[in-house]
Amino acid sequence: MTASRTQGDAGEHAAWLSGNQAMWDARVPLHTASDWYDVDGFRRGELALDDLERSGVGDVRGRSLLHLQCHIGLGTLSWTRLGADATGVDFSGEAIIQARALAKDLGLPTRFERAEVSSCRLNRTFDVCFTSWGVLMWLPDLAAWARTIAVHLHPGGEFFLAEGHPHLFIWDDVRDGAGYLPRNPYFAHQQPVIDSEASTYVDPSMSIGLPQYRWNHPLSEVVTAVAAAGLRITELTEHSRLPWQPLSWMVPDQDPGWWRIDRDPFPLSFTLKAVKEKR
Ligand SMILES: C[S@@+](CC[C@H](N)C(=O)[O-])C[C@H]1O[C@@H](n2cnc3c(N)ncnc32)[C@H](O)[C@@H]1O
Repeated sequence: MTASRTQGDAGEHAAWLSGNQAMWDARVPLHTASDWYDVDGFRRGELALDDLERSGVGDVRGRSLLHLQCHIGLGTLSWTRLGADATGVDFSGEAIIQARALAKDLGLPTRFERAEVSSCRLNRTFDVCFTSWGVLMWLPDLAAWARTIAVHLHPGGEFFLAEGHPHLFIWDDVRDGAGYLPRNPYFAHQQPVIDSEASTYVDPSMSIGLPQYRWNHPLSEVVTAVAAAGLRITELTEHSRLPWQPLSWMVPDQDPGWWRIDRDPFPLSFTLKAVKEKR
């Protein structure tokens, strides 16, 4: 994978987003058929949410929930199985087609809408807004993302985010055993890292044949965007585990499906909770 950087104007920004959309559309059939997503297990009744997500959001029975960047819908459908009135949003038309088909097959009343997250406006509000794992790096403008969260929450509504720690991006997708080699600057978040040929985490040996554009957002930028949108941050926690293995020198956690680094030298993920103030 060849990576480069450029600053870009508004036209380039639109082109980067539509490039990412095409790349995500192309990933959808691979992901739907993959062991990683295990759609068959989901059809048999499994949930596609981990303990950090479930404990972070809490009891959703009878609550309306908006899931941003829901991909093929397994997380959103899981919230429905747990009793939420759930709606999933994603900009990939192919992902939304898969999600709607699965909801129909399983007889679940989950709604799915196709929308770019920063400009998404559903003209309704929710009790909970949820988004997780591999979401922020695709967004050039976190202030716009946070405004989308704020406008979709009732006063008193709650936001939960689980995400890979931004410092991980410094090492990019190092899988060659090279170890602690810095590849990307932590602070250059105005500029995307451009990978000329994306692969996919469900099979890193595979090339999608399309480019991808990613932005690394420092933790301070995430916190500031959420606060500036009018949300009060109630919890920010850094964790020493991650539910995927972006770096070859990570080791399996004792919990299946989680990875960590020997002796836990630094955080690998973070969770953030916020509430929309009642004015
Ligand atoms: C890694 S998935 C995250 C969802 C979940 N963690 C999962 O693994 O299924 C990232 C999702 O973000 C979506 N996405 C990326 N950029 C987006 C944007 N600007 N607006 C809406 N969705 C976007 C992609 O289509 C993809 O479905």
